[in-house]
Amino acid sequence: MAPSVTSETQVNDIVDKYSKLVLKGEGSPQLGQSIQDGFGDDYSSELPETTKRRFEKYGIDISKGYPKRPEKLTLFLDEAEKIRNGPDPDYVERGVNADPEKKALFAKAKEVRHLTKYVGTELVGVQLSELNEKELDELALLVSERVVVFFRNQDLAPQKQLEIGQFFGNNVEKHPLAGQVPLPGVEGPTGLTTIWGKFNRRNRDVTFKQRGGAIWHTDLDHEFRGPSITHLHLDAIPKFGGDTAWTSGYAAYDKLSPEFQKFLDGKVAVHRSQNKYYDKNNILGGPKHIEREHPLVVTHPVTGWKALFVNRGHTLRIKDLEPEESRVVLNYLYEVLEKNLDIQVRFTWANETQDRSLGASAIWDNRISAHYAIDDYDDEEDPRHGTRVTSLGAPPVFVPGSKSQRESLGLKP
Ligand SMILES: [Fe+2]
Repeated sequence: MAPSVTSETQVNDIVDKYSKLVLKGEGSPQLGQSIQDGFGDDYSSELPETTKRRFEKYGIDISKGYPKRPEKLTLFLDEAEKIRNGPDPDYVERGVNADPEKKALFAKAKEVRHLTKYVGTELVGVQLSELNEKELDELALLVSERVVVFFRNQDLAPQKQLEIGQFFGNNVEKHPLAGQVPLPGVEGPTGLTTIWGKFNRRNRDVTFKQRGGAIWHTDLDHEFRGPSITHLHLDAIPKFGGDTAWTSGYAAYDKLSPEFQKFLDGKVAVHRSQNKYYDKNNILGGPKHIEREHPLVVTHPVTGWKALFVNRGHTLRIKDLEPEESRVVLNYLYEVLEKNLDIQVRFTWANETQDRSLGASAIWDNRISAHYAIDDYDDEEDPRHGTRVTSLGAPPVFVPGSKSQRESLGLKP
């Protein structure tokens, strides 16, 4: 007798039932990070006060529950892979034509404070909501040079944050499986993703030994277009902890010997999505990650500098190497990114200059960095809540003959 084949209708039926269970809070943690017990619950009553005030001020209606969850979950691999699975003909790389001296942007700042020599800059006294297109263009250039740029004491509407992201990316990432901020009149995912320890961890046990799975990673590197600029705005800043650290892919590349650089130039790495999806052809094989190939060394489209584009969280392997070779090389590259504190910056969201009744923003370029959210705060006593917008860029490329940051700036190797 021929083995019975599960028809598409049957598969859809199973998944439909499954997704309803998940939304009711009875799902399986196997589906990935976002879909776990309690994914469909309403957390609006637990929102930190400062977040509530921001939402109220800018007309964000959370009466139907918060965060906003997708009405229909994207559970199949082929459907998830299809999302934005091609170039965006309307994409404009901001920063390319910006004034190299960034005069308009810097004129608005009380101080341009470089936090380390090559990574991380704080623009003091600038309100992001007041920047015009020319200044935002200069900001894109600054981010591409400094990896990450910070703004404190911000009064920023979620709608404005989205608008800034759309300026940088034309398309912003709209996650099919993440909690989002609802926007008036917008159906489906809004592009404003909820970053909230309380919600993201949900019923998972978090102890001192077992924190929330923090790992060095790059956001959304499984996207075909590649994530370009991410803007995380914290509207609830913990008094202690919850810092974020960034490491520079430019500088990590510059740490390598010319011979090793030559070996890596032009190689391709495979990245995976954070979330998992079912393969229709093998539904009983369990959920799988989306896999995407990107150059291992990328040339930044604005600066023209080469950067290492791998991260421990999402890079699976180097194409065309034996598995053991790939593992050894990748582990070494992760160590270069993670262990060299001189190529990193760590941002303490609450410092003496931060008014915690206002927000703070970090704007970084994923193509040239990995980051790490330090999970050392207490959700109950000292909540951390933010909204994140990630702009999508052109697919990452490696340009033969492009230079490293230090080579280009004429710095000693
Ligand atoms: Fe992240």
